[in-house]
Amino acid sequence: MLRVVDNQPLSDFIWKMRIEAPRLVAKARAGQFVIIRVNEAGERVPMSIAGLDRENGLLTIVYQVVGKTSALMTTVPAGGEIADCVGPLGLASHVENWGTACVVGGGIGIAPVYPIAQAYKAAGNRVISIIGARTKSLMFYEQEHRAVADELHVCTDDGTYGEHGFVSDVLKRLLDAGQKIGMVMAIGPVPMMRVVANLTRGYDVPTWVSLNPLMVDGTGMCGGCRVGVAGETKFACVDGPDFDGHKVDFNLLTSRLSAYRSQERASMKRFLDDPHCRLSKAVATFRYPD
Ligand code: FES
Repeated sequence: MLRVVDNQPLSDFIWKMRIEAPRLVAKARAGQFVIIRVNEAGERVPMSIAGLDRENGLLTIVYQVVGKTSALMTTVPAGGEIADCVGPLGLASHVENWGTACVVGGGIGIAPVYPIAQAYKAAGNRVISIIGARTKSLMFYEQEHRAVADELHVCTDDGTYGEHGFVSDVLKRLLDAGQKIGMVMAIGPVPMMRVVANLTRGYDVPTWVSLNPLMVDGTGMCGGCRVGVAGETKFACVDGPDFDGHKVDFNLLTSRLSAYRSQERASMKRFLDDPHCRLSKAVATFRYPD
């Protein structure tokens, strides 16, 4: 069992949990992920690393309430426990000094690009952070990015906060203005990563994306996380999660991610129908509106 130091909402439906995991934290690097189980009967859930407090041995994960398990996670109190947390898993993000590096975080992807931005900064890069959310109430981690970035751009799809538009719009504006960017790291919803990769291809800017396929073991054994990259099959858990965005088969990724949608919906319904469920119906309807 691992102790949860705190677990609180950062914005609507987005929560931050800090877990005492000193041995894991000592080894982990930006771009890697962990797999947690909330309880011994629970499913294994891959979570990107959203912060590493090496001094206190604390791992930060940021999660969006999108289904039964993430909903269950919101019920773990500060001082409570989760069953286990395996990691660090996957390969760390490639870090070098490109001169100027740009991290692009969309939605929940705002969290994992933060430690990557820290690593880029530590390598001597000038860091541009572009973070975007659908609307103001879903924005978070602005202060964290402000603290590390030399240049921060905040936007919302509906214009309720920051610039009005998508992260890709901001990136395009910077590139069109002649901003020299040595590399882009984009993390967020698949459509966003696809758009960013398609955009930067035209400007010949190397672009990495962090993929989030379904995972089971996280160690290369089950094949559940397979993705297509440059015409080859790769396992995101051991070959990634970062891949060259210009070579990813985003169509395959999209179709595989939706393969179990009806089962996810049924599981959430059973969870909500449980008389002991302490979850707000509003949280559930965020993901499953009907
Ligand atoms: S999660 Fe099983 S092979 Fe990657």
